[in-house]
Amino acid sequence: MQNESLVNFARKHHIEGLTAPSLTALSEGEMGYSINKAKRLIKFQRRIDRELLKHRVITDNPYTTWFEQGDQSLLQIKAFIIQFSVFSNQFLIAQLNKMIHADTLECMRASKEILANEIGVRFRSARSTTDGDHLGSTDGSIEGGVFHFSAGHFEWLYHITQKLDLSFAEIGQPKHGTRATLFFCDELIRLYGGEDYQASQAASYAVENWAAAGFWGQLIRGIRRFNDRNGLELPLGFFIWHDQLESRHAEHTQEELEELYFTLELDEDRFIRLGNEMLDGVAAFWDGLDEQRRELAAVH
Ligand SMILES: [Fe+2]
Repeated sequence: MQNESLVNFARKHHIEGLTAPSLTALSEGEMGYSINKAKRLIKFQRRIDRELLKHRVITDNPYTTWFEQGDQSLLQIKAFIIQFSVFSNQFLIAQLNKMIHADTLECMRASKEILANEIGVRFRSARSTTDGDHLGSTDGSIEGGVFHFSAGHFEWLYHITQKLDLSFAEIGQPKHGTRATLFFCDELIRLYGGEDYQASQAASYAVENWAAAGFWGQLIRGIRRFNDRNGLELPLGFFIWHDQLESRHAEHTQEELEELYFTLELDEDRFIRLGNEMLDGVAAFWDGLDEQRRELAAVH
């Protein structure tokens, strides 16, 4: 169906606001898709907007607001990178569990894409004819993609730590994480990577909305300023790549939620509750960083 007829279809049935794939499925009478359910979904979306997406970690993150100014001391930036490196490694465990707990081949592959890319398989993009820059494309598939050690996201973080005189052994491992960082990682493993499908979908939706909320941009601006002020050249690749990935991802997050809603009976209260639990975990991570940077401000 053409875009214009989809708009008319939505208007006629008072279901404006749904994404094009949902409207197409509705107009074609696909299994599970009904106008009634579409109307319920629109109501549920309003609830999500009010009761989940207004979580403080999405609307107001004091740490990233501070970070963006670029006034960090060397100690503070080191502490930040160390905690991020712990999270980056623990995320692999959460993602591997998510892959194992997938209940369809399609879901397993979707999770595997993220995992394989994370450890170093570049995406092959239909859009770009070359391999892109040295970081690789942020879209496409790992199918037929090439593995490079240097394309592992952890190695991008390691590049930063090398410029900060931190050794490999000082980053990445759980023993370097603060209580707050480890709590966040455990919540990711429990909810995002858990075996309860609805919980993991709620956590995914929450995490993706958090990731699209703009904190990558704040971190990039903060490191740029930090570099300018200190005459350093901390490489920004890790942050720029993730920022680009998220801007692509945001388009899909909403479509995924709608598909989920139509294809199974979602427990709405539970979705909101578990999404909030995940975001509480995320908030604990940033709160921990904020507390740590205050402590470090007192150290000279
Ligand atoms: Fe990553």
